[in-house]
Amino acid sequence: MQFIDLKAQYDTLRDRIDARIHQVLDHGGYIMGPEVKEFEAALSAYCGVEHTITCANGTDALVLALKALGIGPGDAVFTTPFTFFATAEAIALAGARPVFADIDPRTFNIDPASLEQAILRTEQERKFLPKAVMTVDLFGLPADYDAIEALCEKYKLDLVEDAAQGFGGEIRGRRAGSFGTVATTSFFPAKPLGCYGDGGAIFTNHEGVAERLRSLRVHGKGGDKYDNVRIGTNSRLDTLQAAILIEKLEAFPDEMEKRQQVAQRYTNQLPNWLTGPHVPEGYVSSWAQYSVLAESGAERTRIMKACRPRSSTSASRKATSRSPRTPARACSACRWGPTSARRTRAACSKPSIRSRRAPPDGASAVRTAGEARRPARRCRHTSRTRVRRRGR
Ligand SMILES: Cc1ncc(COP(=O)(O)O)c(C=O)c1O
Repeated sequence: MQFIDLKAQYDTLRDRIDARIHQVLDHGGYIMGPEVKEFEAALSAYCGVEHTITCANGTDALVLALKALGIGPGDAVFTTPFTFFATAEAIALAGARPVFADIDPRTFNIDPASLEQAILRTEQERKFLPKAVMTVDLFGLPADYDAIEALCEKYKLDLVEDAAQGFGGEIRGRRAGSFGTVATTSFFPAKPLGCYGDGGAIFTNHEGVAERLRSLRVHGKGGDKYDNVRIGTNSRLDTLQAAILIEKLEAFPDEMEKRQQVAQRYTNQLPNWLTGPHVPEGYVSSWAQYSVLAESGAERTRIMKACRPRSSTSASRKATSRSPRTPARACSACRWGPTSARRTRAACSKPSIRSRRAPPDGASAVRTAGEARRPARRCRHTSRTRVRRRGR
């Protein structure tokens, strides 16, 4: 069984996708062809935003978003440690400092209370200038935007929504991709809306930000592509991918309906010794992944073993698929993310299992069996004492 059965999906859309691909082959506009504009307009309509700027992948989308907001060296960007590596990586690539807040143990998304503490701590330390919050809609569930938008307003921070996993999710009718100053997504094939290669997009309602993004994705172009007014990069969505995505976006609302039905079926049939995902009232998850919690780590291992196929089919991939690692694991002294560290250690994606049992504290949550302590060193994040382990 495939984790995401792209072939089955292609089979249902084959004629439409093939026709679109041939249209591009016929006109030959492979770079920024008419399908790119058409797809951007369709995305804007779907997300309910004024401007969509497509680009080469979801990581570039995050870096470009930060650059368009003028975020760089000396700036702090608050984010969740429980995400795919690209989130914090993009902050570092923009030259800024990722500052981690812990997660809500039920939704696994950034916890607004911990976020506020991180903002206050950074303000007090005066080493980095608080500039933005980068949220992640983990596993498809939008973050708590009511609280986070209020915090951004209070502390005058930009909000960047990383909706790489969240595209298709909603809060009371407001779609992922429409939260924050800027939002981004990824069209990596296994994402809720995936293409047949790499792709990404950035969404905003701010005309000036959109202008800078259009310039940044084509070598900092000005009036035309040989008039370079800033340092940019080459990060365009291929016309062929845009053509494929036009058809996939058309089918997307129907697929979302089906995902809701499948998720409901999983939830209905979960045994009482497993905890299903928590979707707050008024929220819709795009179910990028459906994850469950086991009673303990040992139980999780037992279930995962039982899920492994006896034959040599690919079903085991589901059972062994791992959730994102947290960069906060790198520092036990900070204790930035004890909840996130616990969840990260034990998390797997559907139908694999996360552990519900809490370790004694944040540090032990990230220590693996057999790891020995080495002399303490100062943590470079907080100046507290850091426990060093062998093999690092
Ligand atoms: C939360 C998150 N952000 C960013 C990315 C990066 O997207 P891409 O692989 O298109 O660069 C991913 C991809 O897995 C992701 O899950």
